[in-house]
Amino acid sequence: MKVFQHVTDIGDLRAALAEAQEVKRDRYQWQHLGRNKTALLIFFNNSLRTRLSTQKAAMNLGMNVIVLDVNQGAWKLEAERGVVMDGDKSEHLLEAIPVMASYCDIIGVRSFARFESREDDYEERILDQFIRYSGRPVFFMESATVHPLQAFADLITIEEHKATARPKVVLTWAPHPKALPQAVPNSFAEWMQAADVDFVVTHPEGYELDPQFVGNARVDYDQMRAFEGADFVYAKNWSCPGVTRPADYGRVLHDYHTMMDWTVSARQMAVTRDARFMHCLPVRRNMIVTDDVIEGPRSLVIPEAANREVSAQVVLKRMLEAL
Ligand code: CP
Repeated sequence: MKVFQHVTDIGDLRAALAEAQEVKRDRYQWQHLGRNKTALLIFFNNSLRTRLSTQKAAMNLGMNVIVLDVNQGAWKLEAERGVVMDGDKSEHLLEAIPVMASYCDIIGVRSFARFESREDDYEERILDQFIRYSGRPVFFMESATVHPLQAFADLITIEEHKATARPKVVLTWAPHPKALPQAVPNSFAEWMQAADVDFVVTHPEGYELDPQFVGNARVDYDQMRAFEGADFVYAKNWSCPGVTRPADYGRVLHDYHTMMDWTVSARQMAVTRDARFMHCLPVRRNMIVTDDVIEGPRSLVIPEAANREVSAQVVLKRMLEAL
């Protein structure tokens, strides 16, 4: 595997899920693969889970790990070609990428949507430069549009906890005080569409996800109706993807105080089929989900986060095998 961005990059999902379980049985059995190999993890944005789980996965495989927080101690990086660099950015990605690549064998990058331009974000202009100019395998640790390590971990978690062969999985928008990117819901939708699940998305009108990720998934603007009979409820906020009105890209369309009936609570969970609750974390309690639901016996947020180590290890293992 040279790039890990989309569900198609992982190939057959059944094989990937079986490999995840093999990792869980003994995660140290491939230490020879990573001997004298270095993973460079580059963060343009904050992280708790991705940073720790990916480092742990690389160490499980015997790799050396270098973590770079670009905005804390490195030179500020320019991404646009052709600009006169007379501002606060001292180095261009076009030099920085091959230099960083010379110190490692595999590169992971986190770079969120900047909301300056839908086109720039949805063309993945930062990650694309790493793919083009590093000469190394590149995996996405959450980009402007996708978070595949999270979606793979989510699928592993659903597979481990499902009680029926084809569970109903509901992705629900929930309120948040700030404008958040669409990377998590995009990838979750993409992976659920590829998995053997009955997938439904619910959100207020105006938050339609990009068709390249959500495909022909059923969308219901009535959250209570969408929750009926659900086996898994996946909550997440996202800002306007700008699908129907590009000018609204990255905007919060309503004052969140008026949207608090979308917060996942016992009221909605009562119409599900005793659904399991999921969220990628970090989560704002009593905005996205009430205390009782996230702390309750049906919450999967902790095992879901633990599976981030597993999804990262499968991806790194496959990249090492292909070096
Ligand atoms: N879910 C997730 O990616 O968490 P972090 O932002 O803490 O890495």
